[in-house]
Amino acid sequence: MTSKIQDEAPHNSFDTILVLDFGSQTSHLILRRLRALGVFAELLPCTTKIADLTWKPKGIVFSGGPSSVYDEGSPLVSGMDSSKIGPGMRLILFCSYGCQEIAWRIDSKNVARGVARGLPRFEKQYQPFSDHFVAEYGHADLKVSKINSHVDRLFAGLGEEVPVFMSHFDKLVTLPAGFVVIAATKNSEFAGIAHEEKPIFGVQFHPELEHTPCGTDILRNFSVDICGAQANWKMGDFCQLEIARIRELVGDRALVLGAVSGGVDSTVGAALMREAIGDRFKAILIDNGCMRLNECDQVKETLGKHLGINLTVVQAGDLFLSRLAGVTDPEKKRKIIGSSFIDLFEQEAIRIEKEAENTPNSGKVEWFLQGTLYPDVIESLSFRGPSATIKTHHNVGGLPERMMNGQGLRLIEPLRLLFKDEVRAIGRQLGIHESLVNRHPFPGPGIAIRILGDVTRERVEIARRADNIFISMIKEAGLYDQISQAFAGLDTNRSVGVFGDQRVWGYIIILRAVQTKDFMSAEVFNFDNAFLAEVSRRICNEVEGVARVVYDLTSKPPGTIELE
Ligand code: XMP
Repeated sequence: MTSKIQDEAPHNSFDTILVLDFGSQTSHLILRRLRALGVFAELLPCTTKIADLTWKPKGIVFSGGPSSVYDEGSPLVSGMDSSKIGPGMRLILFCSYGCQEIAWRIDSKNVARGVARGLPRFEKQYQPFSDHFVAEYGHADLKVSKINSHVDRLFAGLGEEVPVFMSHFDKLVTLPAGFVVIAATKNSEFAGIAHEEKPIFGVQFHPELEHTPCGTDILRNFSVDICGAQANWKMGDFCQLEIARIRELVGDRALVLGAVSGGVDSTVGAALMREAIGDRFKAILIDNGCMRLNECDQVKETLGKHLGINLTVVQAGDLFLSRLAGVTDPEKKRKIIGSSFIDLFEQEAIRIEKEAENTPNSGKVEWFLQGTLYPDVIESLSFRGPSATIKTHHNVGGLPERMMNGQGLRLIEPLRLLFKDEVRAIGRQLGIHESLVNRHPFPGPGIAIRILGDVTRERVEIARRADNIFISMIKEAGLYDQISQAFAGLDTNRSVGVFGDQRVWGYIIILRAVQTKDFMSAEVFNFDNAFLAEVSRRICNEVEGVARVVYDLTSKPPGTIELE
């Protein structure tokens, strides 16, 4: 549910670079690099018709992508036509696949099909255009040419040779008409190209990757120097704009219901709502019986003390645990938890309206606050439709749809344009305590998706106590801020152990700790073995029912961060 106000607000205030997504796993990194430069950027599918946009991008970046221009159904830019690359053309930077796509449109002979050496399944699929060309993947040294002040702008200040990261099967083999070469590598004669007259540039490498250290400079040259975008994307200004937008959307009578979990997203969302509409924002925390140790009390106290939010805690552990009894399928668990949350939100909405009757804040609950972040939005933008569901998540699993239909509620998503680090920056701006701003994320379904198998009160309690020991020890060792997310989960398979002279048959605790920038991929955190051994010793000694502790060494992918 988006309105004109929701869609246009940031573009009215910030120059925007549009990134058109061709399905690369790293398209979002182009945005992150641009935003880190202070340039607001938005990602849309490559099928977007630019003429249909209600706002004018300052420049456009075409991302890379996994397709070959020779594949059937490969993505093409629907809003553009190569014959229209004329004087009215906006400022464009084509990266990798984007670069091949535009060169191929000008003349299909410009692009040769590649083969992937050592990947027979690809070899079958790809008939090489040139027998000599093999896909190029990894480090390459880019030699930058000096031609003239018009085309040299993209690589200005870079030096003569810089490392870049290549990842492509197909490649440019002839120069598209009207273009000149501005950089080359050993394997790619046309690694960087620029139109002789028009402000159009193409690169075969990936400027968004860390392995292309000069990528930030290239994106700055393009967005600020070539497109003239102002680097004015600042969190303080965004907060003020967002608060004004919320006031305009909600009006001066409606009430907004918001679920708060104590995580940074919901807390920042709640703080913005409170700032915007005061007591008409009604914050509730539903205790689903699967929260961390003492979590509900701590969240209530923190929100009250620091943000002046009177949080209503709804005790619903019995309801959730009874509905979860005997359920082992992770997706079923999420769905049960999601629909139970909705039942309770619906009840709360009725209660809140009743309570507000005959008070200065009487009104209808018309809005529901959701802490959607930009990665969630991006995931649903793929040109092939929403990416295949790995897990139903995003808050509490399918929550909005049923609520919106049943209650006539509208969704308000103040963080929908932000990445996690930007949310944290806003949290600091709003004076939210650092310990809360830097808190590791915690999933809506809570410990229920950290128990492999049937969730019982006893198992939640064991996982919760083990988690508390692990996290306290991480904090005491000064490691908390180096880790993006850590927790202890529980395997309901039991293992044999020996305590004193007694044989025990207890649960297995799985410790997980990862480092990640965006939670879309993650690396395992490297603890000292002695530290892990001490965590294991304490958990086995202090948490009855545990016979063994293991450390999960799986990165994401192939694993996911949560156990289920
Ligand atoms: P995965 O397990 O998908 O997790 O690698 C990525 C991030 O998302 C969080 N997560 C969830 N958050 N409801 C949530 O609110 C969910 O159902 C859910 N599943 C995963 C996870 O904690 C991690 O930060």
